Amino acid sequence: MIDLSTRYLGIDFKNPLIASSSPLTANLEDCKKLQDSGIAAIVLPSLFEESVQQEQKQLEKFVHSQALGNFEADSYHPVPDNYKSEIDNYLEHLHQLKSNLDIPVIASLNGISNSGWIEYGKELMDAGADALELNVYYIAADPGQTGADVEQRYLDLLNNLHKHINIPVTMKLSSQFSSVSNMVSKLQANGAEGVVLFNRFYQPDIDLDTLKLSPQLNLSDPMESLLRIRWIALIRGRVDLSLAATGGFHTVESVLKALLAGADAIYLCSVLLTKGPEFCTELLTQLKNWLTEHEYESVEQMKGSVSQFCAIDPAAYEHSNYKDVIKNYCSKKEHT
Ligand SMILES: Cc1cc2nc3c(=O)[nH]c(=O)nc-3n(C[C@H](O)[C@H](O)[C@H](O)COP(=O)(O)O)c2cc1C
Repeated sequence: MIDLSTRYLGIDFKNPLIASSSPLTANLEDCKKLQDSGIAAIVLPSLFEESVQQEQKQLEKFVHSQALGNFEADSYHPVPDNYKSEIDNYLEHLHQLKSNLDIPVIASLNGISNSGWIEYGKELMDAGADALELNVYYIAADPGQTGADVEQRYLDLLNNLHKHINIPVTMKLSSQFSSVSNMVSKLQANGAEGVVLFNRFYQPDIDLDTLKLSPQLNLSDPMESLLRIRWIALIRGRVDLSLAATGGFHTVESVLKALLAGADAIYLCSVLLTKGPEFCTELLTQLKNWLTEHEYESVEQMKGSVSQFCAIDPAAYEHSNYKDVIKNYCSKKEHT
């Protein structure tokens, strides 16, 4: 009997596959299908503080303009009693998932202000979220802002939030830090229970006809998993917090590599959107088969066995193989 269980954010998961934030996890029926196909946990789509604030502003404007109008005028529309705000809907969905599913549900928050992180973080905890993921999507375009300033923003927000909530917090990070390892260890020191490596930034494109920016949302490419696997391998053993991989995990091979590198959990999004929630069952069967063929008894046994800490050739994860790769490429070219 192969044991697929893993521990992530101090919680026991029946296997390492987690459904990452996406429109799939916004829908109760899809979440039930994900659970039936064996997924170990679900991360909700992010609650965006910016959208909550915009909605509140619009509502205040509406109420204000109505108050100035005549109650008897035909155009008077009071706010309906059953009006639900974005946050109400989010909490209701979280509540529905908690009542209908047996697997852990992780809420996700994208904030812009300190008070927003704390207020909504507390609401999500009170609504029963098993853990909270912080999706910190911040583009530092101001040349006056240093890397240290940006890092401090992350650390301050985590520190403040940590004082107010008592569920595990994991940070979904971008890969664009000068020292990812150092940043992860600082996050740990400031209360993060885990990190999710790496968020994908959606790049705006320029439309050559209109000369306007057009936002692009492309699903991931499997090659993207290699960056995640490398960094997990470099970090595992050097820090003491949970590590999850996200970005480009479409096959059992990439899931196995992430586990060997040291991931505690692997997030799936694009592959579930394209192949459907049922694909998780296939991945789990393939995972079990590989472990059996390679005489592993459990996921725990293999986790991190090819991390840099344990690797036969640790330098291969760093710069030293750069020139060899180029040399190999050039000699292959010469022979073709
Ligand atoms: C349509 C769509 C919506 C997403 N929404 C969110 C979101 O609300 N919050 C978040 O943190 N990530 C979001 N993501 C990112 C995914 O959760 C995931 O981290 C990313 O797509 C990389 O994983 P993948 O290669 O398996 O797709 C979204 C991705 C897609 C494709």
